[in-house]
Amino acid sequence: MYDIRPIKASRRSAIDPFRAMDVLAEANRMIAAGQPVISLAVGQPSAPVPKPAADATRRFLDVGHVGYTDALGRVDLRSRIAHHYADTYACHVGIDRIMVTTGSSAGFNLAFLAAFDVGDRVAIATPGYPAYRNILKALGIIPVEIPVDSSDGYILTADRLAACHREAPIQGVLVASPANPTGTVTPREELRRLVEFADRETITFISDEIYHGLVYGEPAASALEFSSRPIVVNSFSKYYCMTGWRVGWLVLPPSLVRAAERIGQSLYISAPELSQVAAAAVFDAGDELEAVKADYVRNRAMVTDALPKLGFADVAPIDGAFYAYAGIPEGYGDASELARTILAQCHVAMTPGIDFDPERGERTMRLSYAGHPDAIREALDRLAAFFG
Ligand SMILES: Cc1ncc(COP(=O)(O)O)c(C=O)c1O
Repeated sequence: MYDIRPIKASRRSAIDPFRAMDVLAEANRMIAAGQPVISLAVGQPSAPVPKPAADATRRFLDVGHVGYTDALGRVDLRSRIAHHYADTYACHVGIDRIMVTTGSSAGFNLAFLAAFDVGDRVAIATPGYPAYRNILKALGIIPVEIPVDSSDGYILTADRLAACHREAPIQGVLVASPANPTGTVTPREELRRLVEFADRETITFISDEIYHGLVYGEPAASALEFSSRPIVVNSFSKYYCMTGWRVGWLVLPPSLVRAAERIGQSLYISAPELSQVAAAAVFDAGDELEAVKADYVRNRAMVTDALPKLGFADVAPIDGAFYAYAGIPEGYGDASELARTILAQCHVAMTPGIDFDPERGERTMRLSYAGHPDAIREALDRLAAFFG
């Protein structure tokens, strides 16, 4: 007999949906039904697998065995990551502090579980990447949202962080630079002040550096340039064009390595070995990756030019990543409704700001310009026809 009583979902699972993923699912349904949708909804490079990664994968498959790896990851990949810190930031990071993860998404789970207890308070900037808030809440950790806006360049400053800590002490802070959804880069000296404040107050600093490499002015600083205490979260998804391989990494302070390793052993066993092999090789894809970035530079110029003409306002400084975040044109009710209408009428998918800012996000929209320049041009033409 079929028991129709619903099984009760846990209270901790009552988090907001990640709406950009919902928009992606809807766009994919429309594409499958033959509709000519262009997605500006998700931060996903459209470039193919970089050649060195594809070649290394084929060679590894010929050997014939793909298995579990150590929970911390393959030594060859960890060693390449360690060299990356020496080459890019002149920072010495021992491979014993590096843990390979199933995308940075798993890195957040591991970092939060290793560093915080239920009831701890962790500051994040709003607007911000929604998964921070959602994962923290699901783990019973309290996200403390600090609003930023166009008046402060969408940057969380050390002064704002100190004020928040004075009001009610926090145990952690998470800063992303370049940030999602705004694309803003925290200036080097401000990042130093944030890290030094956190160190002085024994606040655990988590630095999401997933958009490093995708900066259009001065390169972004790593939190590790200022202290050995921050946890750095990074990934092969964005600059390295490997979203679907689900591989990223953490740099942990020595005292947290074993904690993260123990949790990783039981939550994930290891990141997928084939993806780790590809990731080690992708460090050899420099020219190819820079060519992809050159496309983003073209896209960024097109978007920067088009948004004010379409009526979007208060465009956040597009310093890095591949996003534009802006106020929706006058005369439209809310961003969710506008995004639905544009998807239905012009087949262009965008993400309403409510994903990133639960309070003010119905007035803003995020566009990702990670696609091919031809697709971005076509999407902007369709938007111009819509806003007419
Ligand atoms: C700021 C930020 N951090 C982390 C992630 C997660 O990326 P992944 O799990 O693919 O490494 C994303 C994805 O869009 C992001 O924008």
